[in-house]
Amino acid sequence: MRSTRGWAAAGPTTVRTTLLERRELRPDDVAVRVDYCGVCHSDLHALHSHAPGSTVPLVPGHEFTGVVTDIGSAARRFAVGDPVAVGNIVDACLSCDTCEAGQENFCREFPTLTYGGTDRRDGLPTFGAFAREYVVREEFAYPLPAPLDPAAAAPLLCAGITVWEPLRTLGVGPKTRVAVVGLGGLGHLAVKLAVALGAETTVISRSADKADDAHRLGAQGMLVSTDAAAMSAARGRFDVIIDTVAVTHDLGPYLALLALDGALSQVGYLGPVSVDTMDLLIGRKKLTSAGSGGRAHTAELLEFCAEHDVVADIELLPSSRVNESLERLGRGDVRYRFVLDMSDLDTPAQ
Ligand SMILES: NC(=O)c1ccc[n+]([C@@H]2O[C@H](COP(=O)([O-])OP(=O)(O)OC[C@H]3O[C@@H](n4cnc5c(N)ncnc54)[C@H](OP(=O)(O)O)[C@@H]3O)[C@@H](O)[C@H]2O)c1
Ligand SMILES: [Zn+2]
Ligand SMILES: [Zn+2]
Repeated sequence: MRSTRGWAAAGPTTVRTTLLERRELRPDDVAVRVDYCGVCHSDLHALHSHAPGSTVPLVPGHEFTGVVTDIGSAARRFAVGDPVAVGNIVDACLSCDTCEAGQENFCREFPTLTYGGTDRRDGLPTFGAFAREYVVREEFAYPLPAPLDPAAAAPLLCAGITVWEPLRTLGVGPKTRVAVVGLGGLGHLAVKLAVALGAETTVISRSADKADDAHRLGAQGMLVSTDAAAMSAARGRFDVIIDTVAVTHDLGPYLALLALDGALSQVGYLGPVSVDTMDLLIGRKKLTSAGSGGRAHTAELLEFCAEHDVVADIELLPSSRVNESLERLGRGDVRYRFVLDMSDLDTPAQ
């Protein structure tokens, strides 16, 4: 096994340094020196739900960039020194119908998650990229296009792809009227990507505090969800709504904002929701969701971002400040993604 330093769950909102073991390279693996890893709200959810005293450590982190440091004997896609990006899926069967359709994220055998999953070949738990090294099957590492800043690009691999898939599959393009609910990590990338696709884009946020940011990100409109009169005036205005709110909430007020045949993709809160089907019936509206992305769409997203100069707005912190980032993310004090610089893990004092 290969040892690497990282950060493992210490409590419901905190992590502490740990030494963890990665597998030795299989023939189709590459080893990646993790340089930058984004802090996703899903990391917080995972810490919250990690059983205290569990014998399996939880090491979060599933959107990262770095450099290939070693390649397996049969790995052909990368050379040592190549800049790469990895997201929240690190393996899949690659032979079922959904994998063959390019949606390895929905693999019938369930994709292997970057952390908190079980490796499909050796049955061992997977540990995330809040660490200095990650070992990954080469098919699930993506070349990082040169123009993209490696730190600001890291969030594209979870936050970005999670909103890119619904934007693309719902046909967002010029003249589509898109609303993005919740201006956080996912939300701000949804705005940038929708704008880059040519959509007429509106931010829906709980207050007007982020109005200047919304416009700077390219949104034409801003709607305050707590302003009943404004919400009422906006009924029927949008073709697509991307809902990134991190907590459960009533979808009724958002479905009311959809135009005929409009679709709301709820990608933020994942769990049971209650919906009045009349809110769908009137206007033949659709409620949908999405999660992560297939390999082809992920590669497409990175190319699109390189072409359109889209990366996340980040606050870059040394990984030693990871607990501060988790605490601030928990109370919504982030504009708009924390990214951890893992190079401090090379220093034994950490
Ligand atoms: N589908 C997937 O595969 C997938 C992938 C990644 C993440 N996620 C999930 O997506 C959600 C968002 O993740 P993120 O990293 O973007 O989180 P984030 O940066 O914390 O952003 C979430 C946004 O939701 C809004 N919000 C938060 N608490 C709220 C509340 N109590 N009431 C109403 N609005 C609230 C806020 O927007 P305003 O301040 O603008 O209102 C906040 O900026 C999380 O639940 C995460 O687990 C899902
Ligand atoms: Zn994530
Ligand atoms: Zn499959």
